[in-house]
Amino acid sequence: MGDLHVKENGGNSYKELFSEISQAADILVLTGDLTDLGKPKEAELLAADLRSCSIPIVAVLGNHDYECGHVEEVKAIVKEAGVQLLEGQAVEINGVGFAGVKGFAGGFGRYMLGSFGEPAIKAMVAESVEETMRLENALRQVRSERAMVVLHYAPIPETVVGEPQEIYPFLGSSRLAETIDRFPVSAVVHGHAHRGTYEGRTPGGAPVYNVASHIEKPTGRPYALLEL
Ligand SMILES: [Fe+2]
Ligand SMILES: [Fe+2]
Repeated sequence: MGDLHVKENGGNSYKELFSEISQAADILVLTGDLTDLGKPKEAELLAADLRSCSIPIVAVLGNHDYECGHVEEVKAIVKEAGVQLLEGQAVEINGVGFAGVKGFAGGFGRYMLGSFGEPAIKAMVAESVEETMRLENALRQVRSERAMVVLHYAPIPETVVGEPQEIYPFLGSSRLAETIDRFPVSAVVHGHAHRGTYEGRTPGGAPVYNVASHIEKPTGRPYALLEL
């Protein structure tokens, strides 16, 4: 599940949902935007809710977790709550390797933003490439046969369909899919595109799921259940 957007006013509690998920699944994977504005207080509320989660938790951060400029504090709080935060590393749980990065924007296919012109554009493309290299490093660390890639940004345009087409380039980057397709990957999960589409595939055939909590899923619940 992704895009929890936990708010300071405590309006959206995930306590009950986390205990429901603990009954239904073996591992909880969170695909970023854990907090709404990246405030330490929001991260603390999430950490309190996570106490009702009794299964291992793997997560990446999202763009919202960076908003306030307190990302190091947010990271420390969620790690303290038992979350295995992936930022270019892999972790193996129950025989499944999880490789995770936040990812970045940049656009899709032949319409991807290229490194040309002003330094600001080049910096944006460089960030996108950098995240892709972090994902490559993470995937190289995976030793198990089953691997799940955990992202915040989308690696393909199919799972952002439903969003205004004008913002597609800000929702993800095909560079992520190019890297994924060089490794044997069982499934890819991401969030960020709240109004996107649940399911798609990379050009190489890896199944991709947009698991943002807002997306309608086969479970009929805010979370997806995936078996690898
Ligand atoms: Fe979000
Ligand atoms: Fe996001």
